[in-house]
Amino acid sequence: MRRIVLFAALLVGLLAAAAGTASILAGQKAPPITQVGVQVLGPQRLGPLPPVVHPPGNPPSSAKIQLGKELYFDPRLSADGTISCATCHDPALGWSDKGPTSEGIHGQFGGRRAPPVSNAAYSPLQFWDGRSPSLEDQAKGPIQNPIEMGNTHEAMIQTVSAIGAYQSEFKAVFGTGPITVDQVADAIAAFERTVVTTDSRFDRYARGDHNALTKLEKEGLEIFNGKAHCTGCHWGPYFSDGRFHNLGLPPKDPKNPDVGRYAVTKDHRDMGAFKTPTVRDAARRPPYLHDGSEKTLESLIDFYDKGGGKGPNLDPLMVPLGLARHEKAALVAFIKSLDSLNPEVADVKAPALRDLPH
Ligand code: HEC
Ligand code: HEC
Repeated sequence: MRRIVLFAALLVGLLAAAAGTASILAGQKAPPITQVGVQVLGPQRLGPLPPVVHPPGNPPSSAKIQLGKELYFDPRLSADGTISCATCHDPALGWSDKGPTSEGIHGQFGGRRAPPVSNAAYSPLQFWDGRSPSLEDQAKGPIQNPIEMGNTHEAMIQTVSAIGAYQSEFKAVFGTGPITVDQVADAIAAFERTVVTTDSRFDRYARGDHNALTKLEKEGLEIFNGKAHCTGCHWGPYFSDGRFHNLGLPPKDPKNPDVGRYAVTKDHRDMGAFKTPTVRDAARRPPYLHDGSEKTLESLIDFYDKGGGKGPNLDPLMVPLGLARHEKAALVAFIKSLDSLNPEVADVKAPALRDLPH
C-alpha cells in the first residue's frame, strides 16, 4: 500500500514538473507577482534549465552537431565569404556582438541588436518580434538577408556542395542526394541546441549549494523576485516569459518607428512590444535592449528604477521601483551570478577558416 501511495505521489510530482516545463516553453501567463516566492525554486519559478527538447523532425547526432558547428562558424556561407553567424553571435561576446546594432555584409547596419544564440533553444519564438517559430526556420533567414550575409540559398548551396569535406559530412548525416538549405538549417539548429547553460553559480545555488552565491547576490535574487518584480516578465528557468512587452523606449526614428511585435500580430496592444530576452549570461553581452540603447547593467537597472521610458503603450508592470543604491548593486551582482560556467557556452573558440572543412 505504501509503495502505491509513494508511486502515486511520484507520478503526480512528475506530471506537475512536466506541465510546468511545458507551460514555460509555451510562454503561458506568468504566475502573479505575489506568488513568486524566493524560497520556492520549482519549474514555474526561477531554477535550473530542464534538458533541451529536440524536435522530432530534427533528431540530433554528434556528427550533425559537429557539422552544424562548422557551418555556424563558416563565413563562406555569405555572398563574399566575410560574414558567418558568429560574426554577429560571437561566443566571446556572449553569443551576441559589440552592438548597439549589428554590422553585416559591406558594412551595413540593421536596426536591431543581435540577441544571444546561447539558450535560444528555450525560446518558443525566435527574433525580437517572434516572427519565426523555430531555430530551423530562423537559420535560413540571415543567409539571404541583404544586410546580413547577402547571399542566395542557391549560391550558398553551390559553395557548400563544392567543398569535398562538406560533401562527405552531409552524406554521413543526411544520406545521399544533393545538399539542401533545410539540411544546412537543421544542422545549425542542432548545434545551437547544445549552446545551453545548465551550470552557473545561481544554478548551483538553486540545486542546493547554499554557498554558491554571496550574501550580496542572494539579496539581489530576493530583490529580483520581490521589490523589483523582475520575475513579472523574466520568470522560469529561462528567465523569460516568452512574451512581448513595451518598455517605453523612445523610437530612434519617430517617422519610421520599430513597431516590434505589432508587425506580426497587427494587434495595437503589441505596438512597440519586444520579446523578453533571457537574463542568463546578460553580463557577457552589453549593450542591452533591442536597440542596444543601455550601455551597462548599471544604466539598465537605473532605467527600470525610473519605471522604464516615456513612450506610449508602456507595459503596466513598468512602474518606478524606488531602489536604494545598495539594492541596485545587489541586482547587478545577482545578474552576474547567472553567467554560465558550461564549457560549451563559455569556452567555445571560433575556428580559423583553415580549420574548417575544405
Ligand atoms: C549581420 C549580423 C547577423 C548575422 C550574420 C546573423 N545574425 Fe542572427 N540575428 C541578428 C539580429 C540583428 C537578430 C535580431 C533580428 C530581429 O529580431 O529582427 C538576430 C536574431 C537571431 C536569432 C534569434 C534569437 C532570439 O532570441 O530571438 C537566432 C537564433 C539567430 N539570429 C541565429 C543566427 C544564425 C544561425 C546565423 C547564421 C546562419 C545568424 N544568426 C546570422 C544578427 C545577425
Ligand atoms: C514588463 C516586463 C519586464 C519587466 C518587469 C522587466 N523586464 Fe527586463 N526586459 C523585458 C523586455 C521586453 C526586454 C527587452 C525590451 C526591448 O528591447 O525593447 C527586457 C530586457 C532586459 C535585459 C536585457 C537583456 C538583453 O539581452 O538585452 C535585462 C538584463 C533585463 N531585462 C533585466 C531586468 C531586470 C533586472 C528587471 C527588474 C528590475 C527587469 N528586467 C524587469 C521585460 C521586462
